[in-house]
Amino acid sequence: MRKRIYVVCFLTVMALLCVSCGRKVTVENYSIIPKPAEIAVENSYFTLSSSTKCYAGNMGQNDPVVKYISARMRQWHLSPALAGAPSANCLQLIVNDSYDPTLGDEGYTLDIDRDGIVIAANGERGLFYGFQTFTQMLPVDIAVVRYSKIHLPYCHIKDYPRFVWRGSHLDVSRHFFGVSQVKKHLDLMAQYKMNKFHWHLTDDHGWRIEISKYPLLNDIGSWRVDRDDQPWGEADPAGEDEQRTNGGYYTKAEIEEIVAYAAERYIDVIPEIEIPGHCCAVLEAYPALACAEDDTTYTVQFGPYWPPRAILCAGNDSVMSFLKGVMDEVIPLFPYKYIHIGGDEAVKDNWKRCPRCNKRMKDLKLKDYEQLQGWMIVEMENYVKRQGKEIIGWDEILDGGVSADATVMSWQGMKGGIAAARRGNDVIMTPMEYCYLNFYQGNADFQPPAMPNSLVTLHKVYEFDPMPAKLTAAQQKHILGGQCNLWTEYINTPEMAEYMLLPRLCAMAEVLWSPLSVKNWEDFRSRVADHRLRLEANDYRTGTGSFQPWATFAKGDDGRTMATLHWEVEGTVLYYHTGDGHFVRYTKPFEVTKGTKITTVSFYNGMLKEKAYEIAY
Ligand code: ACM
Ligand code: ZN
Repeated sequence: MRKRIYVVCFLTVMALLCVSCGRKVTVENYSIIPKPAEIAVENSYFTLSSSTKCYAGNMGQNDPVVKYISARMRQWHLSPALAGAPSANCLQLIVNDSYDPTLGDEGYTLDIDRDGIVIAANGERGLFYGFQTFTQMLPVDIAVVRYSKIHLPYCHIKDYPRFVWRGSHLDVSRHFFGVSQVKKHLDLMAQYKMNKFHWHLTDDHGWRIEISKYPLLNDIGSWRVDRDDQPWGEADPAGEDEQRTNGGYYTKAEIEEIVAYAAERYIDVIPEIEIPGHCCAVLEAYPALACAEDDTTYTVQFGPYWPPRAILCAGNDSVMSFLKGVMDEVIPLFPYKYIHIGGDEAVKDNWKRCPRCNKRMKDLKLKDYEQLQGWMIVEMENYVKRQGKEIIGWDEILDGGVSADATVMSWQGMKGGIAAARRGNDVIMTPMEYCYLNFYQGNADFQPPAMPNSLVTLHKVYEFDPMPAKLTAAQQKHILGGQCNLWTEYINTPEMAEYMLLPRLCAMAEVLWSPLSVKNWEDFRSRVADHRLRLEANDYRTGTGSFQPWATFAKGDDGRTMATLHWEVEGTVLYYHTGDGHFVRYTKPFEVTKGTKITTVSFYNGMLKEKAYEIAY
């Protein structure tokens, strides 16, 4: 009897599977992030099916972009055979005969009509991005559902980026993330047309890159005691002789593998090697690199380390030869032109006490310790320049007399970036208040632990504009773009990293790619709802976002002021009152007068998400 039940169950499951394999679908509307510069959709349909072929124009099937596209299509059971000639039932990839300056190196056109699907660009990068847009036109569950026919609305897209630097940073020092997780991060970046991966490889909490000349960096500096089961900042101290089981580092072969993986996705990789501070891991491995009067016993950190006093001695020649030795091994692994040398948050207390540092300052006639840091950084800059590289540093490098060629990463607001652009230095804008995705994304009462007293909502990221209006046109040319940063003190699993990144990285991608003229919060919010489904179908976790509403106020011709409530998560239900205590559901703008206090509560999926939030007019 039981056997029969099993057989019936098995046959039922098989029947259901067969129905689902080969489903037909009509795509209702396109939800593309970042929003293309121009898109027009029509009311006719192209049918994508297993008979649709791929025509790779003059590129050949071994071209990297063609190989990438074929592999992605195979993942979705849409393995188009390569055609020798274009046809109306083809995905065509065309490199334009003549360079279209509007498209530049990264732009593309994508047309779906009776001639088939045609992606055209000036080169492979543009085709790659055109294909990323195409993937977002397919059903959100394409990764998990087998479709036999997909009806795609005809459309015409012309698209190109606003900024050349569309970055995403990942701190692998505070917590180590393995090769497969880094690749997953790169896949995410590619999907959203981000092109610069800033890899924060060294800090107080671990050294993450193999350096053969200084093996203790890895044998000691890459490992710490495991406290991942305890809250950051409340962990038990390390026991004497306790095994160090938490950490790791990338071997040179792994770095090469990741850099190659990134290159296949048109992503440049920028390694960050922190100098002169954030170096507990270095100083535990090589204590002689600390200052003369510094008798601290440094250890690789496993909790908050503040103020970060660990600093490499600027007066010790062996520090400079150590750093040069490290650079000699780092530089050949990274083909892109930049090396990030850190430069942030270096507390100079040890330098002030150190006879060697003071002697160096005196010998070089430097007027303060900031200039001493400036000297050290310019020394390193000159060294890497001889090997064809340029440096990037956090905005503190402006304090010590930065060279004309260094690129400044502005994280303490926009002001450092503005000052740098005025001096003629290139700038990447990444101000904390918009770009730090390790900050809470919503009310901390409803979130897993993150940086205390912090908040960067999805809406806040979307409001970011890296281009300061007050710069002249010539100065604005120095603003290369922006990036989001994921510091990982509180993030100790890949799932948590994704939860913090998504969907805020989508907002950053749109800020950095789309022209201001197409940016629209409400439209973005509804596209994000689709992307959450797409991301989750692709095995990415997404964050819950913020349920705190905000209000805008407008005075009408009749003199009345109306309040409009806004919210972040599609599907949020708001109730409010303006003083009488009787909550009503928000459906449309309502009148307020000077001094009105609006009290709101937010629900989502029937659950209370934010209560008694007050907005004053
Ligand atoms: C930084 O957040 N210290 C660059
Ligand atoms: Zn010193």
